[in-house]
Amino acid sequence: MSPRVAGSHPVHAGCRFRLSDLTVAVLGAGKIGSIMASSFSSCGMHVIATARSRERIERLRMQGFEATSDNAYAVRKASAVFIAVKPYQYPALARQIEGHVAGKPVVSVMAGIPLRLLRKTLPGAEVYRAMPNLNAAVKRSATGLVAPPGAQYKELVKSILSCMGRVYELPEQLIDAWTAVAGSGPAIIAEFIDSMILAALAVGIPRDLAYDAVLESIIGTAEYLRARPVHPAQLRDEVTTPGGTTITALKIIEGKGMKSALIDAVEKATARAARLAREIEAMLEETAGDPQGGGGQP
Ligand SMILES: NC(=O)c1ccc[n+]([C@@H]2O[C@H](COP(=O)([O-])OP(=O)(O)OC[C@H]3O[C@@H](n4cnc5c(N)ncnc54)[C@H](OP(=O)(O)O)[C@@H]3O)[C@@H](O)[C@H]2O)c1
Repeated sequence: MSPRVAGSHPVHAGCRFRLSDLTVAVLGAGKIGSIMASSFSSCGMHVIATARSRERIERLRMQGFEATSDNAYAVRKASAVFIAVKPYQYPALARQIEGHVAGKPVVSVMAGIPLRLLRKTLPGAEVYRAMPNLNAAVKRSATGLVAPPGAQYKELVKSILSCMGRVYELPEQLIDAWTAVAGSGPAIIAEFIDSMILAALAVGIPRDLAYDAVLESIIGTAEYLRARPVHPAQLRDEVTTPGGTTITALKIIEGKGMKSALIDAVEKATARAARLAREIEAMLEETAGDPQGGGGQP
């Protein structure tokens, strides 16, 4: 994967576009940002990735991206801009790019920073919020997208985000819930997979076979439900023979409260995301006039 010569093709709202004609900037190509950069690059886009440290910039170059610490340059060259720094790092970044974003779509994947604050700090930009998840690394992200009212670049932004997986449009008030369900989802599901593997070991299945049995069953069940959109309870009933093994297992799960534990977990995670968002917002409002721009990590 070698970077093509950067061309700053201006993309006009409403015009047809080809992803391979685009230059996009990923500002803050750390964990999620470098996954985004790889996904966009695999769709043929020219990616300018930014970071602060020389080591990370070097690593990004080794991955085949054009990489720099000059955020203003990346924004000037790009048709669409993605911000993937930590929220507390945003005030300093905003000051570097605020004069270059007018008229461009700018998509923040930062947790907790509302459109209102993005709009205020990036005058003239068309700002969006997106919440991808780790599964973007295998093009299976379930990405939530919050578009501004009257968005002109929405189709462009959706097409670019689709390089990471599926994109679902949301009202902004659901972004904390999305963060809990889809953002934390891979961790919750990984925990479930781990539990099932331990269960398989407990009944004598060797580790490598246990891993395959569990992963294939999970992928297969998800694909079955996607292909035949029946309610999960219907699938469960199809497998549950009277007096059989499945009902024996289900009775234990029901007794131990797996469903209520998961509902509780997601409700608490949503509340935590909302609380973090309020903390981040308060910190950003507080540091708005601070020339150092947001010192502490929330
Ligand atoms: N991780 C996830 O699964 C995930 C999913 C969805 C959304 N998010 C959101 O994505 C954001 C980043 O999370 P992360 O886990 O990817 O963090 P991370 O690994 O720490 O990445 C942040 C990157 O931003 C760079 N950076 C900081 N300030 C910069 C500046 N002024 N100019 C250029 N680059 C700058 C850092 O560069 P250096 O390394 O050189 O310091 C670092 O590489 C967070 O806001 C988080 O809410 C994360």
